[in-house]
Amino acid sequence: MSAGNGTSAEQGVWVAPGRVNLIGEHTDYNDGFVLPFALPHRTVVTAGLLPGATRWAVSSSFASEPTVLTPDDLVPGRATGWAGYVAGVLWALTDAGYALPGAELSVDSDVPVGAGLSSSAALECAVLTAMCDLAGIDLPVADRPRLAQRAENVYVGVPCGVMDQAASTLCRAGHALFLDCRSLAVEHVPFDLAAAGLAMLVIDSRTPHQHVDNEYALRRRTCEQAARQLGVPALRDVDDLDAALRALPDAVTRRRVRHVVTENQRVRRAVDLLRAGRLPDIGPLLTASHRSMRDDYEITVAQVDLAVDVALDAGALGARMTGGGFGGCVLALVDADRADAVRAAIAGAYADRGFDPPVSFLAEAGAGAYRVR
Ligand code: GLA
Repeated sequence: MSAGNGTSAEQGVWVAPGRVNLIGEHTDYNDGFVLPFALPHRTVVTAGLLPGATRWAVSSSFASEPTVLTPDDLVPGRATGWAGYVAGVLWALTDAGYALPGAELSVDSDVPVGAGLSSSAALECAVLTAMCDLAGIDLPVADRPRLAQRAENVYVGVPCGVMDQAASTLCRAGHALFLDCRSLAVEHVPFDLAAAGLAMLVIDSRTPHQHVDNEYALRRRTCEQAARQLGVPALRDVDDLDAALRALPDAVTRRRVRHVVTENQRVRRAVDLLRAGRLPDIGPLLTASHRSMRDDYEITVAQVDLAVDVALDAGALGARMTGGGFGGCVLALVDADRADAVRAAIAGAYADRGFDPPVSFLAEAGAGAYRVR
């Protein structure tokens, strides 16, 4: 990499992964529980300091032209598109009081974009990890997810929770990340699919995410209003679901609350099962989570419902949509020797219905962000 000004930038390479969420959907912004794991797909940032410069030259495989960010761009909303995520992290670091030297960054990624696999969190967390190391910023790893989330909430303007940035930063290979989204307490729960003779099929439904931003923000507002009506800080604090449902006059709000409260319960049960070495037994919880997202949270679409139903008919132990919803990916927990049959059954059902062919891969739990060299 050349610094483009005669000086040679000091180099290093950092990576941060995409994620799937095993269970715990739309619970993070309700101060609840999630259980994601990191994918092998990741964003790679090759970077070096530009001595004496106050600019950040960012090139990427997503764009033909490099973008040069200056301090004027470190104002929420100023840079847009993929560069907005990079600028958002730089802004969040400076806003937290850290001095940022100029740098040259080159970004590459194999995290699918628009599939609900957290390509944006992978970008944010790779840039954040690189900048912290390069600039000698002593930001504890445990505090990084909130800073990357702030980049997305405030700079990019997406009201996401903390799950994706936490997964991309904190995950450990061979484990799922049990995260309390209020305290950010973390437990790395063993998640060794191969040892259990299982596989996790990830099926990208390739459904365009229509209206996803509006619908996401609307779900979040409904939950926050419900918590206020119920007199609790967040829906995570609802202990008596029946009493809460009786207290809420609006039927849609009742369904949303029921999803969040029961989903938190399912996450805890899944964690108990994994701690007990009973990985195959989480299947029914995955399927129950899907039904709850379909019927109560109303965030699924025909393609993902079909993939789930066909996977179950073809012998999956459990299946659910993963991520924010309105498209994206489906997870199917399968006996390893059934993976090809399940994959083929879904592809056949999509062809019969005239849906675009799905893309699928097998996922193992990978590591969170780190410096490669
Ligand atoms: C998106 C958001 C996350 C989370 C999920 C739903 O991925 O970025 O914060 O809310 O949706 O669980």
